[in-house]
Amino acid sequence: AAGDFSPAVIIGTGYGAAVTALRLGEAGIPTVMLEMGQLWNTPGSDGKVFPDMLNPDKRAMWFKKRTEAPLASFLWLDLANRNIDPYAGVLDRVHFGDMSVYVGRGVGGGSLVNGAMAVVPKRWYFEEILPQVDADEMYGKYYPRANAGLGTNSVDATWFESCDCYQYARVSRKHAHNAGLATTFVPSVYDFDYMRREEAGEVPRSALASEVIYGNNHGKRSLDKSYLAAALGTGNVQIRTLHEVRDIAQQPDGTYVLTVRQSDPDGNVLAVKQLAAKYLFLGAGSLGSTELLVRARETGKLPELTDSVGQGWGTNGNVMLGRANHMWDAVGALESGMPALGIDAWDDPQYPVFAEIAPVPAGIETWASLYLAITRNPERGYFTYDAASDSARLQWEISQGQPSIDAAKQLFDRINSVNGTIYRYDLFGDTRAFENRFTYHPLGGLVLGKATDLYGRVKGYRNLYVTDGSLIPGSTGVNPFVTITALAERNIERVLAEDLT
Ligand code: FDA
Repeated sequence: AAGDFSPAVIIGTGYGAAVTALRLGEAGIPTVMLEMGQLWNTPGSDGKVFPDMLNPDKRAMWFKKRTEAPLASFLWLDLANRNIDPYAGVLDRVHFGDMSVYVGRGVGGGSLVNGAMAVVPKRWYFEEILPQVDADEMYGKYYPRANAGLGTNSVDATWFESCDCYQYARVSRKHAHNAGLATTFVPSVYDFDYMRREEAGEVPRSALASEVIYGNNHGKRSLDKSYLAAALGTGNVQIRTLHEVRDIAQQPDGTYVLTVRQSDPDGNVLAVKQLAAKYLFLGAGSLGSTELLVRARETGKLPELTDSVGQGWGTNGNVMLGRANHMWDAVGALESGMPALGIDAWDDPQYPVFAEIAPVPAGIETWASLYLAITRNPERGYFTYDAASDSARLQWEISQGQPSIDAAKQLFDRINSVNGTIYRYDLFGDTRAFENRFTYHPLGGLVLGKATDLYGRVKGYRNLYVTDGSLIPGSTGVNPFVTITALAERNIERVLAEDLT
């Protein structure tokens, strides 16, 4: 049966997709966005849209029987996880053998679940990872445009020094400074003025109520409140939720035809539909967009796709670790779920590390300092197609995570030795000190200049574009969403000027 047609279709509603939708909408181009997750705007029976980290329910996770929190244990006890009903929840953990990947599901993608850290990479490193992109333009125009669109703000330094909720960050800062290391404030899309009022007891708590990874009920400028709200405001953009794109094919006249599965939040399939588009933008994230094109190539639907499709995937060097603090270095029972400080050792010639000082928002004194270290890991994975499950499988071996551990260990051994502290061995489900079997920062798969041209146009096809984290070659040196946003701003400006006239 002939389906619908829309001049432009965007798959996904994360950072790249949201930027693209706003700019297409402003240009007057009718655009449909297809999102497999839900729109998160309706409170549950507890009056809240999202559950917190300490009391997760079915809203927490994407079709799981038990929650899968990153800190698997505390004193080896599985305290954080709960049995839940499978449901179209907000956080997914996708498992591929030795690597699992956390991603957001819903209108706003990763912006719903992430830590809101809005960090611009060091310019010298950006020039190294994406040498063909004009860094003057990125740093002069597109990074500032992205930060304006995202609503990035900075913590008030005076308040930071006196508040309770960043005591944990001040303790880690002291330990880093004792080792001669530099720290830096991390800009955020969480409203720091709202956080100040949370601590003052003036408004409902979110960052200060253990709301992180399963969504924030207040304070966070997730994409549904920034770019996507603006996109809908143009009157030219529609979002269809619980619509998962399964297949992309092309008609002889060049029109793309999508096969889309519509479900209810319990996972029952309501309809399988077709939607045709002249211009098709992939914004389903590194895993989602790469899978769609790997599947299209391997099933012969888009046979001209190149061998670069599915290559160049990385973890952004993610590795997590905890340190045990002395009794006199209490971190406090109140920890903001949104980090505000990082240890910046990215200029180290041998072991560059940018370590965000992460919370353990357990609501009790933990005597622990937690870190998400971003390291420079040169290892890359790639995707193959598994016909039996009709899915793309990430090929990544545990040994490929070792460079991340080596770099983090070098830095934190130094911090431990100066401060007389040790690692925590009870946090990751067994006795390991370093957790590198998951990433929050999947990047690559459809790398700029390889699977696409220098503006995200997919090689081998016209009017087919990639807009998301799959463009970035496996590493950004910092948390990635500002770079994804800025690159999408740059690419859509060019595509609008040259292709959609
Ligand atoms: P993104 O993954 O955001 O969005 C893709 C969307 O497409 C999703 O909504 C998905 O449901 C949808 N989709 C996928 N396949 C589909 C299909 N076939 N059909 C329809 N829809 C489909 N970064 C940072 O800079 N600072 C931070 O503090 C953090 N913290 C953090 C914490 C946690 C817990 C996570 C999981 C991640 C972070 N990140 C982060 C990473 C950041 O959130 C991530 O890099 C971006 O969200 C990626 O943006 P994209 O545009 O690539 O896609």
